[in-house]
Amino acid sequence: MKQLEIQKLSDANELKDFYCGVEAIDSFLHGDFKDYLYLGICKAYVVKENGNVVAMYSLDKFNVFIGDDVKSKMREGIKPIPQEALDPDNPYWRLPLIDSIEITYLAVAKERQHQHLGSFIIERIILDLLADNECTSPLLTVRAYQSETYTAVPFYEKCGFFPTEDSSASKPTLCMYRIIA
Ligand SMILES: CC(C)(COP(=O)(O)OP(=O)(O)OC[C@H]1O[C@@H](n2cnc3c(N)ncnc32)[C@H](O)[C@@H]1OP(=O)(O)O)[C@@H](O)C(=O)NCCC(=O)NCCS
Repeated sequence: MKQLEIQKLSDANELKDFYCGVEAIDSFLHGDFKDYLYLGICKAYVVKENGNVVAMYSLDKFNVFIGDDVKSKMREGIKPIPQEALDPDNPYWRLPLIDSIEITYLAVAKERQHQHLGSFIIERIILDLLADNECTSPLLTVRAYQSETYTAVPFYEKCGFFPTEDSSASKPTLCMYRIIA
């Protein structure tokens, strides 16, 4: 992979020439996203290659509803972080909502897709969260975009995410999680 640089994004104009090819996402990034940044609703980043933006992502604190069936599946694959929170017998698991860090947006430039940049970003997010002593959330979550013509769900599955909800329902997004470990 060529030399990549990850920088905090504070000015939405940096994305003016950036397109991922999914109309709904591109129009948001070139429109309302500037208010989203201005209000500080998320932490946003750009990935640059030779000074050009080749990807962007943003993170926010969130919480997700996880049903009992999903919780029992999660227990099977848990690598506890933090130990107490993810102990299978811990009352944490009886909470209806679990803290998460949410990937609010992730997009790779159309011409750079399917070259393992998106999966590199996911692993980088996980490493950064593991190194962040203030991060106590056990989960990384995403509302994976899906429409009649395009879905990002298989990408997240390949990156180790599982659905928190019934994946057969036809909704514009599917909530998915990966344990931060
Ligand atoms: C989804 C997206 C972020 C993935 O980034 P990427 O750099 O193209 O993904 P990668 O190359 O790291 O893909 C990893 C694997 O997932 C597969 N994959 C990627 N996107 C996929 C998709 N939409 N459908 C099926 N498989 C996909 C890749 O082929 C690759 O498979 P492999 O390991 O067998 O080779 C990128 O394609 C994108 O920006 N799409 C448009 C915007 C979008 O949907 N963002 C997500 C919103 S929630």
